[in-house]
Amino acid sequence: MPRAYAISTESIAAERARVGGDLDQFDISRVVQLDEAQLRPMGPSDVRIKVLAVSGEHNINHAALADTVNIAEIRGGKIFPGNSAVGEVIAVGDAVKKFRVGDVVLTHCNGEPDIYGYPLRIWAYDKPDSVGWYGEEAVVGEWQLVPAPLDCGLSLWEIAALPLRAPTAYHMWRRALAMFRIKVSREKKAVLNVLSFGGGVGECFLMLAKSEGHNAYFCSGSPERRAALEKLGIVGIDQKKYERFTSKNGVKDFSNDVKKLTGGEGMHVVADMLRGPVFAAGLAVAARCGVNTSAGWQLSQVVEYNSTLMSVKQVTIDHTHYETVDGCWAATELYGKVFKPTVHKEIYAFEDLPRSFQEMQQNVQAGIPIVRVAKDMPAAVSKLL
Ligand SMILES: NC(=O)c1ccc[n+]([C@@H]2O[C@H](COP(=O)([O-])OP(=O)(O)OC[C@H]3O[C@@H](n4cnc5c(N)ncnc54)[C@H](OP(=O)(O)O)[C@@H]3O)[C@@H](O)[C@H]2O)c1
Repeated sequence: MPRAYAISTESIAAERARVGGDLDQFDISRVVQLDEAQLRPMGPSDVRIKVLAVSGEHNINHAALADTVNIAEIRGGKIFPGNSAVGEVIAVGDAVKKFRVGDVVLTHCNGEPDIYGYPLRIWAYDKPDSVGWYGEEAVVGEWQLVPAPLDCGLSLWEIAALPLRAPTAYHMWRRALAMFRIKVSREKKAVLNVLSFGGGVGECFLMLAKSEGHNAYFCSGSPERRAALEKLGIVGIDQKKYERFTSKNGVKDFSNDVKKLTGGEGMHVVADMLRGPVFAAGLAVAARCGVNTSAGWQLSQVVEYNSTLMSVKQVTIDHTHYETVDGCWAATELYGKVFKPTVHKEIYAFEDLPRSFQEMQQNVQAGIPIVRVAKDMPAAVSKLL
């Protein structure tokens, strides 16, 4: 059986007991534990992959902390997490048409499309019986794979940073832009002011906005991540200057600065994956007819806003989740052309995966964390290491 990381109700309970319920002391690396995964037998439409590299995704921290739901408990006591990976195809079922042994592929995490194609469930999270990709090998349906664009100009680690974040951003952007355009046509306003707060999804969102000619602003606490985006012409705003909006003055000062930056107009589109104190700041700087979009709730699941004020300003507050399968394929076309992710300087070894999640929780990484799973890489990616 391949080695794979797991999160169990026992490991969560033990860590919660160790820290006496104080989640600030919680050590995620004690909860994400190396195990062995029983993979399902290959069906005719299945593909077996050797996992090459994976990216650290924040939902693992939610699963380990059990701070939104206790997903390990809901799933029967244990999950094998990991919903973003680059792999090499090592076996295909008889009915598989799109992939051959030796192909390098990406996974998407749309675990069960609804009638419109959006995910009802996320693979390796709330999709029952789904085994994730923080392991040495995996069996997935052909429909869960996208060919890896190996000639897009990105390294293997940069490619590995994107399968979850890029489709999320792609969906948020196309939808937020369409919403704004229902209200304000291109004839009236060509160039929009687009803001995102910190994080890999927000960075991809701004890369899309910038590539289409809009003004893009990145409000983050990380100087390294701001510097990387400034190289793409995306203006950095230091979030720590506003004490991360934990005081009313922080929001007020930010709002005043944004007015100056945008000639009094404000932000037409805001991406906020964090909620919590960031939500108020995003709404405060919304332009008339603005759109505030999110697929995350890292700092809070519940938000509060003044409905009257938002009506008067004609602001739309939108909630998204993950892309359709077609949208994931479309987002992949933009790797390297639009999406140029910032990767954390350490490429973690497979054995160090738990530490990478603890460091993500401590917010000390200067880019998206990547874990090298395979020691031996196929020749197809040797130039991308
Ligand atoms: N629905 C979906 O499909 C979906 C997909 C992807 C992600 N998500 C969720 O969206 C959230 C963000 O994901 P991501 O991948 O973009 O992020 P990420 O790359 O993991 O980065 C998280 C960012 O949060 C910021 N941050 C951390 N603590 C903060 C605080 N106290 N105040 C303000 N900012 C803080 C940091 O930004 P700075 O330090 O640079 O400011 C950091 O870069 C996560 O909760 C994730 O689970 C949802």
